[in-house]
Amino acid sequence: MKYHIATFGCQMNEYDSGLLANLLESVGCQVTSKKEEADFIFFNTCSIREKAEDTAIARISQIKSLKYKNPNLKIIIVGCMAKNKGKALFKRLPFIDYVIGPDHYKEIPEIILKQKSYQRVYTEFDETENYQGAYAKLQTPYSTSIGIQRGCNKRCSYCIVPYVRGKEKNRDPLDILAEVQSAADRGVSEIMLLGQTVNAYHKDDFSFATLLDKISQINGIERIRFTSPHPKHYNDELIDVLLSNSKICNHVHLPLQSGSDAILKKMRRQYNVENFLSIVERFRNNNPLYAVTTDIISGFVGETDEDFEQTLEVVKKAQFDNAFMFIYSPRAGTESFQEKETLSEEEKQERHERLVVIQNEITMQRNKLMFNRNEKILVERPSTKDPDEWVGKTENFKKVIFKPTKIVHPGDYVVCHINDIRGWTLRGEVVGE
Ligand code: 5AD
Ligand code: SF4
Repeated sequence: MKYHIATFGCQMNEYDSGLLANLLESVGCQVTSKKEEADFIFFNTCSIREKAEDTAIARISQIKSLKYKNPNLKIIIVGCMAKNKGKALFKRLPFIDYVIGPDHYKEIPEIILKQKSYQRVYTEFDETENYQGAYAKLQTPYSTSIGIQRGCNKRCSYCIVPYVRGKEKNRDPLDILAEVQSAADRGVSEIMLLGQTVNAYHKDDFSFATLLDKISQINGIERIRFTSPHPKHYNDELIDVLLSNSKICNHVHLPLQSGSDAILKKMRRQYNVENFLSIVERFRNNNPLYAVTTDIISGFVGETDEDFEQTLEVVKKAQFDNAFMFIYSPRAGTESFQEKETLSEEEKQERHERLVVIQNEITMQRNKLMFNRNEKILVERPSTKDPDEWVGKTENFKKVIFKPTKIVHPGDYVVCHINDIRGWTLRGEVVGE
C-alpha cells in the first residue's frame, strides 16, 4: 500500500505530516511522491486565512479524476480545515473518503485499513491526545522539527487556531528529549521546536528555559531554534538562557501583528508596543546582528490610518530582518468576525503593499550588515539555478550561496566569508570547515 501526503500551512502541519508518515509506515505503507501511484492520498490542510482553505479545496478538486481511474483510492482530509469544516467538506468535495482532525491521527491506520464505511468524520477534540511516543519522520537527515506543544490557550480575536487545534497541551519533557535524542542519533544537528506559543511551554516544574538547556546538552545537537514564541512569555530566566547558551540560535521569530497599542488591545494580544520593543532591544543590545523576524497583519477591523502609520513606525524602529505580512482575513467563529469590517479590500491591499515596500528595504539593509563577515553555514542542498553552487544557512537564519572548494554534503558545516550580496541573497567564499 502506498501513501502520499500533500501538506499546506505552517510548520506544525509539516511536523504532523511527519507523525502521520511514521504511523503509516509502522503498518507497512510506503511513501510515494506521485499521487497517481498512491492508494491513500492525504491533504493536511490549513485554515488560518480564507485563501488557505480556498487553495486546499482547489488542489483537492484537481485529483477527482484519479478516483475514477483507481476506485480503491482513498482520499483523506486532515489538519485544520478538516476540523474547521467537518462534514461540510463532503458537500464541496463529494469524492473524498474521510475527514480527520488533528487529535485523531493515531487512529488513521485503523480507519483507512479496516473501516468499511466511508465519508466519515473524526474531528472531536481529545484533550488527552499528546502523541506520546509517536515520533515524526525526520524532515531532512540533518535538521528537523519537533512538536513540544499542541493547541493554544490565547484568544487573539482574529485567530482561528484555538478553534481548530483546541486547548494548549504541553508534551512530556522526557518524551521530547527522547525524540531529540533519536534524531541526534541519526545525525540531525539542528532542531526546531514547535508550539503555537512555544515559550509558554511548561510541564509541572519543567519550563521552556529548562527544556532548551537540556536539549543543548544532547550530543550532536549544534543548533536549536523554536517557533513561535509569544511576546508575553519572555522572562529573565528565558532571556538569560537564550543569550548565554551558544547552541540556541541568534534568531527569533517574534510576531508583532500590529504597531498600534489600540489595535493590539482589540486583538487581545496581551502586550503593548513598548513591551515588544524592549524584548527586541535586549536581543540586539547583546548582539546587533541578532535576527528578529515577525508576522504583521494589515487592515484589521477598525484599523485607522493612524494605527497603520504606527505599525510602519514600529517596523522602522524594530528593524526586522524579515517579516511575513498578511492582509486581515475574517474567520467565522472568531471574536473579530462579529465586527463589521471598516476597510475595503482595496484599502487593506494598499496598506499591505506600503508595508511590504518598507520592510523589503529594511530586510536588504539588515542583510548588508552581514557583509565581510565570516559565518558558519549549515549546508542544505545544491542551488537549483547552478548545481556547482550550494545553499546553506547562517546561525541567524540567513540564506548563503557559496561554491564549495571540496565535496560537501547536506548537514556539513562550513565557514564562509560573505563577500557579495545579489538582491537579498548573501554569497560567500568557503574559508574553513
Ligand atoms: N487574517 C490574517 N492573518 C492572520 N494570521 C492569523 N490569523 C489571521 C487572520 N485572520 C497571521 C498572524 C499569525 C500568522 C501565523 O498568521 O500574523 O501570526
Ligand atoms: Fe498551522 Fe494555524 Fe494553519 Fe493550522 S490554521 S495549519 S495551526 S497556521
